[in-house]
Amino acid sequence: MLSKRLFSTFRVLQHDNPLGLPRSGTPPSFPRRRGLPEKRKIRDVKKVIAVSSAKGGVGKSTIAVNLALAFARRGIRTGILDTDIFGPSIPTLLNLSGEPRLDENNCLLPLTNYGLKSMSMGYLLPQPSPPSSTPQSSPDPNPIPMDSTPISWRGLMVTKAMHQLLHSVTWGALDVLFLDLPPGTGDVQLTINQEIQLDGAVVVTTPQDIALRDAVRGIGMFQRMDVPVLGMVRNMAFFSCPCCGTATEIFGHGHAHLKGKEEEWGVRAECRRLGVEFLGDVPLDGAVCADADRGVPTVVAEENNPDSKRRGAFLEIAERVAGRVGVQW
Ligand SMILES: Nc1ncnc2c1ncn2[C@@H]1O[C@H](COP(=O)(O)OP(=O)(O)O)[C@@H](O)[C@H]1O
Ligand SMILES: [Mg+2]
Repeated sequence: MLSKRLFSTFRVLQHDNPLGLPRSGTPPSFPRRRGLPEKRKIRDVKKVIAVSSAKGGVGKSTIAVNLALAFARRGIRTGILDTDIFGPSIPTLLNLSGEPRLDENNCLLPLTNYGLKSMSMGYLLPQPSPPSSTPQSSPDPNPIPMDSTPISWRGLMVTKAMHQLLHSVTWGALDVLFLDLPPGTGDVQLTINQEIQLDGAVVVTTPQDIALRDAVRGIGMFQRMDVPVLGMVRNMAFFSCPCCGTATEIFGHGHAHLKGKEEEWGVRAECRRLGVEFLGDVPLDGAVCADADRGVPTVVAEENNPDSKRRGAFLEIAERVAGRVGVQW
């Protein structure tokens, strides 16, 4: 018994760090599956576009849903798949809930709003029960109950859920499917990149260096996996004042005067350096956030306002993306 314990302690001490990864020399090799899974198309879907950012909270889901709606509202048959297993946003953004029905082949049927089909892990989780008695005199300012079910899964379960979302949804005929990717360049991203034939990736960043660095890493991942990078979107590019309409570049503007000559840095400069298209700016605007929170994204909320600059920003980017993947606008 004692020798066994000593032996196991000894084995642990052999490692250079708690994960057992050596600090020097060649990285450890893992047992390999026989060959990589073959990339396949999603059934009945013509084009698949991933919206990614590597960093969380930069507006990936907001951009993804507004781009998808811009397509859908033009009559292009469009869907959006929420691949953020741990933080699904699409149900809130599209104001949809409830368990999806199954077809005769036990495949999930998407839920639709505003002409956009959608599927999300959020639909498959237990629904929070509505408050039992709401006093009539005090209307609840936040009537959508928040779900407190934690999603804490290990890698294998995440991969299994991902497989189901990628391969067991009956989309019907779609021209374009947008994938709203979770932050990072981890398990989910690799599974998608290895198994699905992506037609392109839109990379979202904010102007700050800290977000841009991660976005550039994300671009590297797509390029290494032979996925065409359609371009970068600069979200929260400037603050659009709701009172006077003045645009303030609160995160910097990408130019600096150094030793008498103007240097360009930031998103546009990185696009040029990497040979990636700059797809456009989306303003930091309270209305974009409020529209998202109440489940009526800006592209739909301001449909009757042809002068809306924030809606116009999404439409311009959508048109560029359509052009890049060969979808008629
Ligand atoms: N352009 C914008 N203007 C104002 N708020 C925004 C904008 N883009 C995103 N947001 C808000 O920022 C938060 C994070 O956005 P989200 O799309 O969920 O990011 P991600 O998917 O990258 O984590 C949300 O509350 C969203 O409404
Ligand atoms: Mg998101």
